[in-house]
Amino acid sequence: MPKSREIHLVQRPDGAPRPENFALVERDVGDAADGEVLVQNLYMSVDPAMRPRLTAGQALDEAMMGGALGRVVQSKHEGFAVGDLVSNRLGFREYFTSDGKGLSKLTPDPELPLSVHMHALGGTGFTAYGGLLHIGQIKDGEQVFVSTAGGAVGSVAAQIAKLKGCYVVGSTGSDDKAAWLRDEVGLDAVINYKTQPIRQALEEATPKGLDVYFDNVGGDHLEAALRRMNTLGRIPVCGFISGYNSGHSNVSNLSNIIYARVTLRGFVAPDFMHLWDDFKRDMAGWLKAGKIKYQETVMEGVAAAPAALIALMAGENSGKMLVKLAD
Ligand SMILES: NC(=O)c1ccc[n+]([C@@H]2O[C@H](COP(=O)([O-])OP(=O)(O)OC[C@H]3O[C@@H](n4cnc5c(N)ncnc54)[C@H](OP(=O)(O)O)[C@@H]3O)[C@@H](O)[C@H]2O)c1
Repeated sequence: MPKSREIHLVQRPDGAPRPENFALVERDVGDAADGEVLVQNLYMSVDPAMRPRLTAGQALDEAMMGGALGRVVQSKHEGFAVGDLVSNRLGFREYFTSDGKGLSKLTPDPELPLSVHMHALGGTGFTAYGGLLHIGQIKDGEQVFVSTAGGAVGSVAAQIAKLKGCYVVGSTGSDDKAAWLRDEVGLDAVINYKTQPIRQALEEATPKGLDVYFDNVGGDHLEAALRRMNTLGRIPVCGFISGYNSGHSNVSNLSNIIYARVTLRGFVAPDFMHLWDDFKRDMAGWLKAGKIKYQETVMEGVAAAPAALIALMAGENSGKMLVKLAD
């Protein structure tokens, strides 16, 4: 009978997550029964959205929920064969049995690494694509600011804006990520918000103001961007990571929305599922042509998952944070 190691939330964090909030638990996983599959996870996604769920949403003493990519290793289900790759939301665990609900088969692009389906050609890339094109209604040549531009969503959003011929400013929290954005990606201006005051740096970097701010941060970044918005500007609000540990993200100048007639709109990826086929075609083409570049921070083994989430919230990832479990 296969055994699975999994990461449980055992204590809700107060502020930033800490190692003692989690436990590594081993349990028996039965063989696949009739109508079931046994899946071995290969990659687990580590996402900022996990942090708010540590406060409310994620059950205690159960495996952390989240995106993962696995391979069917036993099948007694007519819809799945051994070797099929399946995306799932069962998160931080090595093996699980399933009746197939919540599993979606993935046909990997043979010309791209498998891991890319976990980010640029998967959920975070799609979030950037739809958030910028559909929610942000970006137009060629506009003035654009993207926060967490060195991360999984932000790096793709910034590059799509560049492909649209926009002037693009990105913010990030380390000199290494800033150098990658400037030298490899070719952003027009890059701000390290940990060494430069965001408000002043954004003002200097945006002499023509901003038409679109792709917001991943909230708080001081949103406040700085609101001061720079041009008339009829758009702010697709993707995330508020600056408030995930504390539960609040203060913005004092929301009245600028009125003066500049700004559209500020939150979104989640299911809002634009009708774009999925366009996204897959465009993104696969851009990746193969080297027009979209990406970085990955990959930790090994299920036991590393809490450290990966802690590092993500501390900004220690470059690009997509993943935990790899098997080849
Ligand atoms: N709406 C949706 O459907 C959707 C889907 C996926 C993700 N999101 C959101 O998109 C954002 C980015 O997610 P991701 O998966 O691409 O993660 P990511 O950017 O790869 O990693 C998170 C990054 O956030 C930055 N960060 C952490 N604390 C911060 C703070 N207090 N102030 C400013 N930046 C901080 C860190 O980078 P630096 O400090 O180096 O910049 C860290 O590396 C998150 O807000 C997430 O919740 C939304």
